[in-house]
Amino acid sequence: MNFNLLTLFPDMFPGMLGQSLAGKALERGDWSFSAINIRDFATDNHKTVDDTPYGGGAGMVMRPDIIEAALLSIPQAKQGRKIYLSPRGKVLNQARVKELTTQQNITLLCGRYEGVDQRVLDAHDFEEISIGDYVLSGGEPAAMILMDTCIRLLDGVMGNVDTADNESFGANTCGLLEYPHYTRPSEWIAGNGQTYEVPDVLKSGNHAEIEKWRKEQSLKITEAVRPDLLD
Ligand code: ADE
Repeated sequence: MNFNLLTLFPDMFPGMLGQSLAGKALERGDWSFSAINIRDFATDNHKTVDDTPYGGGAGMVMRPDIIEAALLSIPQAKQGRKIYLSPRGKVLNQARVKELTTQQNITLLCGRYEGVDQRVLDAHDFEEISIGDYVLSGGEPAAMILMDTCIRLLDGVMGNVDTADNESFGANTCGLLEYPHYTRPSEWIAGNGQTYEVPDVLKSGNHAEIEKWRKEQSLKITEAVRPDLLD
């Protein structure tokens, strides 16, 4: 999978994605990225990329001609799906992530300031994706999160191939949140002086009972934290 990043801050990449499992996968060539500095396509001496909004209002808007020039520097065959990270987009979820991993190339446009001129989005069929109902200072952290969610699903990136299907939002959890996990020691005295034990059922060796307990826990947690998921 290859990601093209259109950004004013190319040095932010690979950032956290250069570490841990994503970093190893990058070294192996399971995924690649190309960070393109939009400012390199500015045409004036000051390397201006933005201007005041038509109709007035606060902030600056990134110019369509400069973003387009940056986009067209990517060979057509490598542009793939074009996504603009924006709080106005459809919210990213695991189903959307899975679908994105079928793509070989994805171009991610990271906005700053008040946003980008609508016309470049229209002219080049950018889809808009949000990572949640809050506003970031720019699209780069959102791009990184989208990339992380895709990379970890690529073949061979996660150690245990079952893991992704069993976790929250995975294929085998019916859309429920994950049950709690425990490891050794089986009895643990915390810094607060209290003793915490691993639930007996998990040490029983009875796989049917363990499965049942985990499903109950998933349901309980989902009811308490995300009742909307039960709908
Ligand atoms: N840019 C600013 N806020 C964002 C969000 N919530 N999701 C995606 N891109 C953004």
